Amino acid sequence: MSVVKFLPINGLRSFCCQRNRFHTAAVVWSSKSVQNYQFKELDGVIDPYSSSIVRNDRYNSKAEQEVKETLVRVRHGGSKSAHERHTMKNNKLFARDRLKKLLDPGTEEDFLEIAPFAGLGMEYGDVPAAGIVSIIGRIHNKWCLVGNNDATVKGGTSFPITVEKQIRTQDIALQNCLPVIYGVDSGGAFLPLQASIFPDRKHGGRVFYNEAILSSLGIPQIAIVCGSCTAGGAYVPTMAEETVIIDKTGTIFLGGPPLVFAATGEKISSENLGGATLHCKVSGCTDYFARTEDEAWQFGRDIVSTLDVVPPEDPVEWEEPLYDQEELRMLAPTPYDQSYYSIKKILARLVDGSKMHEFKSLYGPTLITGFAHIKGHIVGILANDGTITADAALKGAHFISICQQRHIPLVFLQNVTSEEEVSSPEEAGELLKARAKLLMATASSTVPKITLIVGNSFGPNNYIMCGRSMDPNFLFSWPLAQIGLMTPTQAAKAMKQLSNDPASEEVLVSVFKEKSCALYSSANLWDDGIILPQETRRVLAQCLSITSQKKYWYKNDTTNNTHKFGIFRM
Ligand code: COA
Repeated sequence: MSVVKFLPINGLRSFCCQRNRFHTAAVVWSSKSVQNYQFKELDGVIDPYSSSIVRNDRYNSKAEQEVKETLVRVRHGGSKSAHERHTMKNNKLFARDRLKKLLDPGTEEDFLEIAPFAGLGMEYGDVPAAGIVSIIGRIHNKWCLVGNNDATVKGGTSFPITVEKQIRTQDIALQNCLPVIYGVDSGGAFLPLQASIFPDRKHGGRVFYNEAILSSLGIPQIAIVCGSCTAGGAYVPTMAEETVIIDKTGTIFLGGPPLVFAATGEKISSENLGGATLHCKVSGCTDYFARTEDEAWQFGRDIVSTLDVVPPEDPVEWEEPLYDQEELRMLAPTPYDQSYYSIKKILARLVDGSKMHEFKSLYGPTLITGFAHIKGHIVGILANDGTITADAALKGAHFISICQQRHIPLVFLQNVTSEEEVSSPEEAGELLKARAKLLMATASSTVPKITLIVGNSFGPNNYIMCGRSMDPNFLFSWPLAQIGLMTPTQAAKAMKQLSNDPASEEVLVSVFKEKSCALYSSANLWDDGIILPQETRRVLAQCLSITSQKKYWYKNDTTNNTHKFGIFRM
């Protein structure tokens, strides 16, 4: 474990202020932590000609292709005419180009896109990236969360899924104490669907509630008004701590010129009604007058430079896994297949030096628990290797309480195809009680939690292994992940029995299959994105770096000091 977390927070803060993340002091600390352990090597050897490896590879290559093509499509945003309107008529930069101006230049290690697949195949149509590009990236080396409306998608208006994504990203900011930058360019609510985004607890107003709560907790928020902010949207910049507005491009008003005309008969230009001059000189709703886009995004960077946020000191030395990460494609389980390789083969390609300090290896062996490092960050791993038996659940709860005590982040790898079979009511009771303990430990631990659905995630296994409802800091799926209450075959059989559904069992199975796949799940924001198996190590390390920023600066962080578990059912 790193020495860093035991230093007094104030001393550490001033210490870290003097360094960038590549400073040699960090090398000493991290290499110490790397060299001081002698964990056992996992056996990652596979037979590339075995039938399950060949089949996995074939399925995964196809799924990977689909994911890549879909990503290109969502990153393109709206239609060709919307692109032309955006640049030629409105003279604006695209949401993703704006991000480039705000974030530090860097490699893919420095960016993590959140939920790019959200909004696909909604009942109201496709909303690419849910109409808002959300990236966690570095500004002056500090991890920040940036959400830029994509005005090429129906004028950047808010669909129900847009609001959900905004709230999800604010949750990420809250949980990980990340400064937020809102790039606002939105026509407000997508009016035909206003009833689905307006009055409820987790509808549009929640975004403003969250802004207030984040600010009250000391999490800074900055808005760059780079387009329209109409009606409810006007509160995003107004509630931000500091707001930049672009002359002749940004506007903020409760009702636009057409509404004013309808109400009063007065014709007024958007600029006079709510442009940069008005808001910087008269209303005081904005604080910085930017003459150009470039100047606005530079203002954003300058504001971030003033924040009392210290970038994490990431390890800079570690051992690479002994096995090729590209081979993960051959290990990602094929849907519903039970003849997969041990999860340890996957772990051997994810953790530093393919080394793990396994905890209780002989007890409850269907859940692998142990300590390992990912790019120098220590983690506690819980990975399914079969059904979650009572012993496995008890072992998991025990392991989580150890990680909590030692302040070690948890990584969950989900893959359970079938349910544990029980032969007596007593056995069922034991299983329930044991799993309740694992749930209790998972839900009430406060260390960072990252969940990865590598294969099947059905029924209660999804919750027990830190699914979305357990509030992990991040949750990602592999392209062939399957998520559902039951397997499609079980669900179709149950439907036939319970409701006498006229559709054939085959048809029902295919309907359930469609709604169990990773893309469906990701489109509905039940994860933070689909990642390719070979990208997993990079993404996990990014998440660990992001979550570690919190401990350096969040003054109200009571994590671990006053932590209590709930009552465990014995
Ligand atoms: N609800 C539904 N659709 C909307 C919308 C809204 N609030 N605002 C814009 N759109 C749609 C337009 O119909 C158009 O759709 P299309 O691509 O299918 O033609 C697309 O978004 C772009 O709008 P358009 O007006 O052509 O682009 P623009 O760049 O000239 O103007 C806005 C963009 C946002 C400034 C302008 O559309 C506008 O003022 N919208 C209304 C804002 C408003 O009053 N909102 C109140 C909601 S609470």
